[in-house]
Amino acid sequence: MRVLVTGAKGMLANALLPCLGSEHEVVGVDLNDFDISQETAVQKAFRDLRPDFVYHLAAYTDVDGCEANPRLADEVNTQGTRNLARSCAEIGAILLYVSTDYVFDGSSDRPYREDDLTNPLSVYGQSKLGGEKHVQSLLKRYFIVRSSWLYGPRGKNFVSTIMKVAAERDELRVVSDQRGSPTYTRHLALKLADMLRIEAYGTYHATGSGDCSWFEFAQAIVELAGLERVRVVPISTQESGRRAPRPAYSVLENRRLIENHLDSLPHWKDGLAHYLKEGQRLGEFKLPLSGRGEGPLRAEVRGL
Ligand SMILES: NC(=O)c1ccc[n+]([C@@H]2O[C@H](COP(=O)([O-])OP(=O)(O)OC[C@H]3O[C@@H](n4cnc5c(N)ncnc54)[C@H](OP(=O)(O)O)[C@@H]3O)[C@@H](O)[C@H]2O)c1
Repeated sequence: MRVLVTGAKGMLANALLPCLGSEHEVVGVDLNDFDISQETAVQKAFRDLRPDFVYHLAAYTDVDGCEANPRLADEVNTQGTRNLARSCAEIGAILLYVSTDYVFDGSSDRPYREDDLTNPLSVYGQSKLGGEKHVQSLLKRYFIVRSSWLYGPRGKNFVSTIMKVAAERDELRVVSDQRGSPTYTRHLALKLADMLRIEAYGTYHATGSGDCSWFEFAQAIVELAGLERVRVVPISTQESGRRAPRPAYSVLENRRLIENHLDSLPHWKDGLAHYLKEGQRLGEFKLPLSGRGEGPLRAEVRGL
């Protein structure tokens, strides 16, 4: 199969590309190859590459940046996705579009299901939902995969930010009134790679198992990293002063993954333990030595 991956230099693509087997002809493209918001450039790329399956990972992902620049958010996330969906329709390619928990407003009192009502609070969420709608209306053979709170190598993410800040400060103030499911990019990538082999098209939720607040996530990071001197202090969303509104609760039920025998993703703490080792190996951050002769992490990696 000829497989095209957009956003190939991004954090999730970095995890996905090595998971796509050598039996496939895989091409990764990014903004320096063509801009997805330019339809003629997308059409030309599809004429040249003629993919059978497209992983659409490219996006304007700066949530607060989107709030300040709604036009760019629309051009890249909504119109860019429409351009890719149109080109897929023209050549009969399957499209897998990665979307977000921020399409929900956070008012639910139980994990969101794939067919629950969307109501994004932010420009980013609106622009990603706009992309979903184009995919649904233009294609029959598509996957929309909503994930949340991604972290992993080669990208700016919450874990690497906490590790950097914790190296300089003894106290971290972290929002405690937003709840979601952190997702390790490698765990999600393995699931996305499995989707190449199935034909049960439609919308999926795919997130790390378990849930937490950003505050609890930060506490787990400093604890697993052995940063005993760092105190994590809970603050409210209002105190954080972020530009874009975010859902207070965006836990996603991964119901369709289970129904289609793809299994749920490992727990977010397993992913965290793995990433703390991987990030250290890649020089993204340094961990203090535990002195217990077990390596620098206090917790064992429980596997992928
Ligand atoms: N990160 C999260 O927490 C999260 C959560 C849920 C869903 N998602 C979704 O998951 C997907 C992957 O996220 P990620 O965190 O891996 O994103 P990322 O690291 O920000 O990567 C996105 C990539 O898209 C490229 N890009 C931006 N604008 C483009 C354009 N106009 N044309 C072509 N390429 C363009 C970027 O290039 P430049 O770097 O050169 O701009 C970047 O390489 C996205 O669709 C995102 O919406 C992310």
